[in-house]
Amino acid sequence: MYDFKADPDLPVDEMYRELTGSAAALVDGESDPVANMANVAALIWQFVPRLNWAGFYRVIGDELVLGPFAGKPACIRIPMGQGVCGTAAESGETQLVADVHAFSGHIACDGDTLSELVVPVIRDGKVVAVIDLDSPENARFNDEDAAGIEALSKAIAQYI
Ligand code: SME
Repeated sequence: MYDFKADPDLPVDEMYRELTGSAAALVDGESDPVANMANVAALIWQFVPRLNWAGFYRVIGDELVLGPFAGKPACIRIPMGQGVCGTAAESGETQLVADVHAFSGHIACDGDTLSELVVPVIRDGKVVAVIDLDSPENARFNDEDAAGIEALSKAIAQYI
């Protein structure tokens, strides 16, 4: 049994440190990428408050394909460069979207989503996946959230 405690009173930077530490401990020594992404998605869901979706899209060929996640069923395939996820995957840059309705090309998988944070996972210089966090709150994510998920992405990049 894994018993990682997410303390709702932790300051945001500490919460992300705990999240990354827990994720690193879980994936260490495990070579199966699906198992690792599933556990990391579950940890994000457990640690990060005020989300309606959290998970992975994997780069396969010239598109993104849905990976392990927590939340409602979502769009399965996203062409590279499209939507917030495809933009993050193509550019290799984090996308912090305060209002998804103002993001041209946003792909609405869950009508509850108002803001979104998408962080590329880069391995050996290539984007291999993105981590996508959706929130039902407007402007839910800031630079601290982006830095936290970027640290998580680096910690797990070799294991997914
Ligand atoms: N909104 C994303 C699609 C994925 S879902 O949010 C889970 C996008 O525009 O890429």
